[in-house]
Amino acid sequence: MVAVKTQSVLMQIQPTIMRFAKMLASVLQLEVEIVDVNMVRVAGTGPYDKSLGVKLKTNSRLLKHVIETKKEKVVTHSRTDPICEDCTDKQNCREKAFLGTPVIFQSACVGVISLVALNNEQQERIKDNLREFSDYVQHISNIFISKLLDDQSGEGNASRILSNLIDNMDQGVLILDKNNNLRFANAVALKILSSSHEQLIGEVVSARALTFQGSFSSGHMQYIISFGDRSEIIIGQLQTVQENQIFLMAFHQSHSSISSESSNEVPQIEHLIGECQPMQVLKRLISRIAPGPSSVMIAGESGTGKEVVAWAIHKLSNRNDKPFIAINCAAIPEQLLESELFGYVKGAFTGASTTGKQGLIQAADKGTLFLDEIGDMPLIIQAKLLRAIEAREVQPIGSSRPIAVDIRIISATNQNLEKYVAEGKFREDLYYRLNVIPVTLPPLRERKDDLSLLIHYFLNLHTKRIGLVYPGIAPEVMALLAAYHWPGNLRELSNMMEYLVNVVPSGEVITTSLLPPNIANQRHIVVDINRARPEQTCDSNEQPEHGTHALEEMEKQLIAEALVRHGNKKLAADELGIGIATLYRKIKKYELLSA
Ligand SMILES: Nc1ncnc2c1ncn2[C@@H]1O[C@H](COP(=O)(O)OP(=O)(O)OP(=O)(O)O)[C@@H](O)[C@H]1O
Ligand SMILES: [Mg+2]
Repeated sequence: MVAVKTQSVLMQIQPTIMRFAKMLASVLQLEVEIVDVNMVRVAGTGPYDKSLGVKLKTNSRLLKHVIETKKEKVVTHSRTDPICEDCTDKQNCREKAFLGTPVIFQSACVGVISLVALNNEQQERIKDNLREFSDYVQHISNIFISKLLDDQSGEGNASRILSNLIDNMDQGVLILDKNNNLRFANAVALKILSSSHEQLIGEVVSARALTFQGSFSSGHMQYIISFGDRSEIIIGQLQTVQENQIFLMAFHQSHSSISSESSNEVPQIEHLIGECQPMQVLKRLISRIAPGPSSVMIAGESGTGKEVVAWAIHKLSNRNDKPFIAINCAAIPEQLLESELFGYVKGAFTGASTTGKQGLIQAADKGTLFLDEIGDMPLIIQAKLLRAIEAREVQPIGSSRPIAVDIRIISATNQNLEKYVAEGKFREDLYYRLNVIPVTLPPLRERKDDLSLLIHYFLNLHTKRIGLVYPGIAPEVMALLAAYHWPGNLRELSNMMEYLVNVVPSGEVITTSLLPPNIANQRHIVVDINRARPEQTCDSNEQPEHGTHALEEMEKQLIAEALVRHGNKKLAADELGIGIATLYRKIKKYELLSA
């Protein structure tokens, strides 16, 4: 290598470029090498972290090619590429794959950022994420390097430039000092944590790793980030640099507090947790219909969140500062239901209070009336309710004076009301009045993509409520929970998590030994579901698709865990008892980003 005399623009900001290279390598889990237009190595990681500021004397044909063509170059099998053909250094070359992006500044190529794979895993990662990595590097190079150089030509200040760079990253970044005081949080991190600079800077923030590693690539783990009285589960990497801790959040957070910026953004509705496809559709529907006056009927199995959804609709409507009155038609005896709903005047019947009583419909005036278990409403009261809805007025028992009311009715049922109508148990005219906007809630077994999110949501909810320490959760437990068919839906899951946070010793991990037998004793999980199918153990009454889905979910989980644990496909395949080819097929099928 030969030293060069005049410094290139990139070399002039070498320390910043070096930090940028390290960050990029850490985020993408690849080696990074950055050279300037003179083929001087400006920055690098791993084996490229030496001879900085020195002109490369090897042929470095790929880097040269990018500089000459000013175009991106991708090589997924180095040494076999035509460019590598006449390379005299071929024998010593350790590169397996290469993605080189030109750094363009004022229309000139000033250098190359290259991502390099040195082992099979990294090679796979480049191959599998070509587009994503290439777009990312181009984007980051366009915005940051060019901006750095712009600033450099002015009165550039390295730390200002660096914080600018971090602030514009696509990942959330937190920097904590040695006392865990937050020193820096970029805009994305603040958004993910739904917090502001004022709230967070200087606060003590702790990052604690969870045992469960549902990560999108090696090195990412779930962390509980706690500050003030809040805790959030965030996927990311924690690194210690000198005495500071840097927390880099992963690109994709399976967390509800993240909002996307696209125009068909899924509305974030407080306390309505779920991001799987059916929940996204549901949330969009709810936010669309909430402001209107039309009656909504929510159908869904027990424990699917009908009441949660009714409340969400009310909160999103312009009636949200008016009463939300809920009445469970099944829980109140027939004689009382009428007086509860419509009220009565004094002396209306024996035993009536001497002052009379306002009914719940009237109490809900200008607000929302939630009629839960509407299928259990007796026919006689159905008739009276229908009259009230049509005339928009109620007549308390014993009164001849109707009272005008303005209510929005949301009803809920877990029965098949159409069947009730056919059987004459429910008035058809009332059914159509109430069922103007039908909303159907999917059972939990069809929302398995949300399971991990919901588990952590309920763990968080109950630990906070009871004032306990947030426990870890073993991968085997996650797999068993994923395999279970949850007949009681979210209520059952919530109760289960409440039970588990109570029984797990403080600060420890929830293991299978703590699970109740109906979940723990689902017959053992076999990884290859094609082999396992004949002996699949999910409730035999269950629809076959559900069993398969649960098994697939479980298989995906196990594979992801094994990949994270070993960081090596061969070892992961050995542990799972499947061939490497099968493993690759499964990684592709489940879109797992490999370790
Ligand atoms: N999407 C959700 N996000 C967070 N919590 C939920 C969600 N759905 C349901 N829950 C929780 O699950 C439990 C059951 O929900 P809810 O009472 O709304 O169900 P339901 O459909 O009305 O059940 P039932 O038919 O038995 O009355 C509650 O503790 C609720 O807070
Ligand atoms: Mg309910």
